[in-house]
Amino acid sequence: MSVKVTFLGHSGVLIEGGGARVAIDPFLSGNPVATMKADELECDAVVLTHGHEDHMADAVPICKKNKATLYAAYEICGYAQEEGHEKCEPGNPGGKIKAPFGYVAFTQAFHSSSFKGRYMGMPCGVVVNIGGVTLYHMGDTALFGDMKLIGEIYKPDVAFVPVGDRFTMGPELGKRAAELVRPKIAVPVHYKTWPLLAQDITAFRPEGVQVRALEPGETMTVG
Ligand code: NI
Ligand code: MN
Repeated sequence: MSVKVTFLGHSGVLIEGGGARVAIDPFLSGNPVATMKADELECDAVVLTHGHEDHMADAVPICKKNKATLYAAYEICGYAQEEGHEKCEPGNPGGKIKAPFGYVAFTQAFHSSSFKGRYMGMPCGVVVNIGGVTLYHMGDTALFGDMKLIGEIYKPDVAFVPVGDRFTMGPELGKRAAELVRPKIAVPVHYKTWPLLAQDITAFRPEGVQVRALEPGETMTVG
């Protein structure tokens, strides 16, 4: 089986396959490189890594408009429900949730997580299994050695690796992260959205891993 992956710009991706459309961190309003408006995105599920504006800002409106299920940290789901979106699947690092399209698992990430000054629970990485393909979105995170374990446990076909530096890993540490996880394909994300994240990513050359740098709006087929 195969899936179609569309880069939404910044850290957002849309994955289509196995009869479902899953958006991870679809941040479009206020995203200067987005090629799509938030109300144009169609999906069945939204998966969030954490509560920061540049990941979560559009999530509740997108979920409401599409009647999509939200997979996110317990505290984020609590917020979404207060905002009137009931279809939520709360989780936390270490946990895995069965989904109509496969599963969503939450891993650890070294970062922070808040929205409009409110604590949004643990920052996470997310593993999404859809259409027989497994994708690991690291979220915003520092490098950590247990990425090796995450790679061994979930055997992801694709990893989305933040490489913009400052708030996450940069290209050199992102390379180390991809070498620990060992996906077939590594997609650099969370860079060049704003001048603060401008980054020459030539150092992002993990050994034994194919790098696919996607432009916003660009699509690739996996599997
Ligand atoms: Ni963040
Ligand atoms: Mn971020």
